[in-house]
Amino acid sequence: MKIVHISDLHCGENYFAPRMLEMAIREINGMKPDIVVITGDLTWNGLLEEYGLAKEYLDKLECKRLIVGGGNHDYKLTGFLLLNKFFPRPEVLVTDNAVICYISTSRPDRDVGEVGHRQLLWLRETMKKYKTKFKVVAMHHHLVPIPDTGTAQNLVMDAGDVLKVLIESGVNLVLCGHKHRPWKTRIEDMCILNAGSVSSRRLRGFFSNSYNIIDIRRESFRAELKIVGGRKMDFEEILRGYDGLAHLGDLKMKR
Ligand SMILES: [Fe+2]
Ligand SMILES: [Fe+2]
Repeated sequence: MKIVHISDLHCGENYFAPRMLEMAIREINGMKPDIVVITGDLTWNGLLEEYGLAKEYLDKLECKRLIVGGGNHDYKLTGFLLLNKFFPRPEVLVTDNAVICYISTSRPDRDVGEVGHRQLLWLRETMKKYKTKFKVVAMHHHLVPIPDTGTAQNLVMDAGDVLKVLIESGVNLVLCGHKHRPWKTRIEDMCILNAGSVSSRRLRGFFSNSYNIIDIRRESFRAELKIVGGRKMDFEEILRGYDGLAHLGDLKMKR
């Protein structure tokens, strides 16, 4: 099963790069993914016109299932009221061998992330029903600090409790966005993958737009990073210090 994980489109902001988003959508359609997961920040200020613009782009995605979650920017100015109207999503998506759910870490007019006690209870109970499946949980905010992104602001504020529930529930893979910097962290048997920004020029520590490609085979998976308009890379290369700058010259012309 192939999942494409994209994040932080930021339609409507001054640093939005529409050509990068168009290019990414063309690339993704060519990969014929089963599921596309979007971990929030579709917009800049949660405005109606920005949601409309994001919808125009995302309607061009060709995939069997689409999971769109909100980020802190989408919750601004009552944008949270629009999220579900534009992008309704299933509470839990169950496939032959995997279960995927999106938990909300965003709150109206607040940048910091939080999962909250009730949502954690729900997550724990939900995951109990899918003991034999490969378990994926997606959220907007980063669960652990990411290097090369400045100070660790707006982390999920109850990250300790969230990590405990995720690990105890046997979650295999966590997908996060928000920091605009791709990264991979492993805690016990669980992998946390952060997507970079697919189409904002406000990048941190990794200076090309990118998204993640995840191939799930029974209990294991392989994750790669795809630079928009560039090559696929192993995450190990990023962990060793590759910062995406080598692609910048080519991409400047395409933005
Ligand atoms: Fe963002
Ligand atoms: Fe964000």
